[in-house]
Amino acid sequence: MAIQEQRLVKALEPFKGFVLSTMIFTLQQSGLQEAIARGTTVDALVTERGLDRPRLVAMVDYFVAAGLVARSADGVLTLTEAAREYDEARAWYEMMIGGYGTTFLSLGDHLAKDTAPAPRNGGLVGSGSCGMSLHDSIPLLRGLLATTGRDYRRLVDLGCGSGVYLTELCRDYPQLTAVGIEPDELGAQTARTWVDEHGLADRISIAQTGALDWIRAVPDGERPDLAVLAFVIHEVLGQDGEEGVRELLNTLFDTSPDLDLAIVDIDLRSADAESMSHPLAQHYYNAYFLMHPFTSQRLESRGWWEKFFADCGLEIVASALTDPAMDSTGFELGWIVRRVAA
Ligand SMILES: C[S@@+](CC[C@H](N)C(=O)[O-])C[C@H]1O[C@@H](n2cnc3c(N)ncnc32)[C@H](O)[C@@H]1O
Repeated sequence: MAIQEQRLVKALEPFKGFVLSTMIFTLQQSGLQEAIARGTTVDALVTERGLDRPRLVAMVDYFVAAGLVARSADGVLTLTEAAREYDEARAWYEMMIGGYGTTFLSLGDHLAKDTAPAPRNGGLVGSGSCGMSLHDSIPLLRGLLATTGRDYRRLVDLGCGSGVYLTELCRDYPQLTAVGIEPDELGAQTARTWVDEHGLADRISIAQTGALDWIRAVPDGERPDLAVLAFVIHEVLGQDGEEGVRELLNTLFDTSPDLDLAIVDIDLRSADAESMSHPLAQHYYNAYFLMHPFTSQRLESRGWWEKFFADCGLEIVASALTDPAMDSTGFELGWIVRRVAA
């Protein structure tokens, strides 16, 4: 018997969300959003941007029917309030759809033992993550660094993504020079452009390499007094295992014994039913936790990390959670760690 329409509509609710989120990302990343926000027409978009008319018409019709774009009787397109609200979470769409959209689609193909990691777009993961960090982990990091009272001179940001921490921290610490380490080619290029645009190329350089490779050969003039590992220690743990992270931490502190190392990461609580019932866990972290093991990343719990740091001879001198006004799950946390004095 054919499915009843009412049941079909209900059953297709998640599909609607799937396409809607990809189209919000497309609207934001294609540049159409800015043009439509100023008020434009299909004719103008076709002419000014060299777009394919039938495809653009289909897309605009979708945007209008989905409530992202309003169209006046004379064909002028403007942005709806809903689209403006989604834009506040632009960085989340950039990372989760631009960076991990292909990942989610291919999870089933990468479930079998010994299959390769699922694909992702590393550049958009890094830039989306940095955009999110402006809301959560950079304020968290600022608060943590303020507790040390130190005046930092040389920063290394290991896994710098699009370079946002580098420019923000150089603004906070006028004497600071910095190097950003980013293995992803597009990510490193985006970071260089970001640094240039902020007029800080004389203080910040970008090296396209992995954290471990960089730390194994730190040039003399680049010994940091501050290092940042923001959402990257779980990347190294997934790629190089506990031994890799141990080597990274040991070498960092052998190179710079007085280093302050700032680590920001996510407490793995995906199996904690109460934590996962939080609205932000349902709307975001459930998907976030899901894709990590498929992409050579290994999240661990707060307790696991704190024991690991202690085993590596490190002490936690400060720790904090994200501002609960922005994220009250308590999942995102930051630490400042130092080598225990001999
Ligand atoms: C989730 S993003 C974090 C970006 C930025 N640190 C932030 O907090 O928003 C993870 C970044 O780590 C980079 N990455 C992955 N493996 C790495 C490695 N072995 N060493 C250094 N960076 C790595 C990725 O390319 C990506 O830019």
